[in-house]
Amino acid sequence: MKFDYEIKDINLATKGKLLSEWAANQMPVLASIRENFSKNKVLTGLRIGACLHITTETANLAITLKMAGAEVYLCASNPLSTNDSVAAFLVKNRIHVFAHRGENARDYYSHIKKVLSYRPQLLMDDGADLVSTAHKEEKINIIGGTEETTTGIHRLRSLEKNGLLRFPVIAVNDANTKHLFDNRYGTGQSTIDGLLRTTNILIAGKTFVVCGYGWCGRGVALRAKGMGANVIVTEVDPLRALEAVMDGYRVMPIKEASKTGNVFITTTGDKNVIRKEHFKVMKEGAILGNSGHFNVEIDIPALENLSQGKTRIREQVEEYRISKNRRLYLLAEGRLLNLAGAEGHPPTVMDMSFANQAKAAEYLKKSEGKLAKMVYPVPKEIDEGIASLKLKLLGIKIDALTKQQKTYLSSWTLGT
Ligand SMILES: NC(=O)c1ccc[n+]([C@@H]2O[C@H](COP(=O)([O-])OP(=O)(O)OC[C@H]3O[C@@H](n4cnc5c(N)ncnc54)[C@H](O)[C@@H]3O)[C@@H](O)[C@H]2O)c1
Repeated sequence: MKFDYEIKDINLATKGKLLSEWAANQMPVLASIRENFSKNKVLTGLRIGACLHITTETANLAITLKMAGAEVYLCASNPLSTNDSVAAFLVKNRIHVFAHRGENARDYYSHIKKVLSYRPQLLMDDGADLVSTAHKEEKINIIGGTEETTTGIHRLRSLEKNGLLRFPVIAVNDANTKHLFDNRYGTGQSTIDGLLRTTNILIAGKTFVVCGYGWCGRGVALRAKGMGANVIVTEVDPLRALEAVMDGYRVMPIKEASKTGNVFITTTGDKNVIRKEHFKVMKEGAILGNSGHFNVEIDIPALENLSQGKTRIREQVEEYRISKNRRLYLLAEGRLLNLAGAEGHPPTVMDMSFANQAKAAEYLKKSEGKLAKMVYPVPKEIDEGIASLKLKLLGIKIDALTKQQKTYLSSWTLGT
């Protein structure tokens, strides 16, 4: 049977190979897992359906799964995040890829359905579009799934709460070695990267509004502050708002922040965080970007309605004319700025995220039939094992508790 794939251009494979090898150099934890997996063939015979950003880091994960004996079917978790050369490189490595950069919504879902048509037994998702599409099918035979991001976990928990989840899912996002590094340092740096590549603005001296002070928002605010921006945070959670205040940021409602911001970045996982009444009071030249999972955080239909016309003035920059003297700029169609406008997270953090994915896949296979239809955390041994391995491979040693310290820390009798 013909090897099935749908990508832009297979001739881009050499470029994709070089880029993926560059990323591999900075992914030593995944490399060590790959060595073990390929020796022990821990995923032999398993069909894996994956819906992930098709980046150089994902290439290294997909190859790891393949070398462990799995058959991998991959589609994109965002229409704008596919690197076409990586897709070609993966096809050359006998990984079935169905994706191209800039695909429309119809193709996006037809690629997801294509992956599901191969009856995968394990689903690896980023945002839960693959899992939720699978849930609409009548017959599925899936041993489990893994979920990469916060928004996907929200959707899975909703399925679980409503008694609709049809197989166990491992919440990879919630592993400490994932969100503490990937969401914070990864999104922090790569969002700034996306902003700079798309606009080439000077960040120093700008008023920078970060919506949402979760893991991603903390990272974006920190990096913007480091480059000299005057950062404002907006929140709905009092605890996180307080944390932002004590971290040295101004905190205020988005309505207030809208009047002063030069750059707005949403990182909430929520909908219509910036909307009509906010666009109306924004300053001339304000720039709007999103690094939350879906393109719903900035109310784009409202922006379209409000504007008298729009022009694409740079590759990922749309100018909306609100009035004669006021223009607003939307980046990357409101989609993940760090992936659509740059290359996503650096491999050093994806090393840990994807180590969690690979180990979670092995765990699901080993636990086949033993898990309930629930959202599970990544087992602690896996999470801590990845942290220890990352440190070791970075050549960093830490102290160990002495016997006396262990006794002291587990005792209630020893006080002043
Ligand atoms: N760009 C990327 O590569 C990338 C990486 C990881 C996660 N994500 C996505 O980024 C989003 C945020 O992830 P996270 O891990 O930081 O989540 P999180 O839950 O840690 O933080 C989200 C924060 O947004 C706040 N919030 C919700 N609604 C709000 C509103 N209307 N106004 C202001 N604040 C609001 C919440 O109170 C919370 O503190 C999710 O969609 C996630 O999937 C993107």
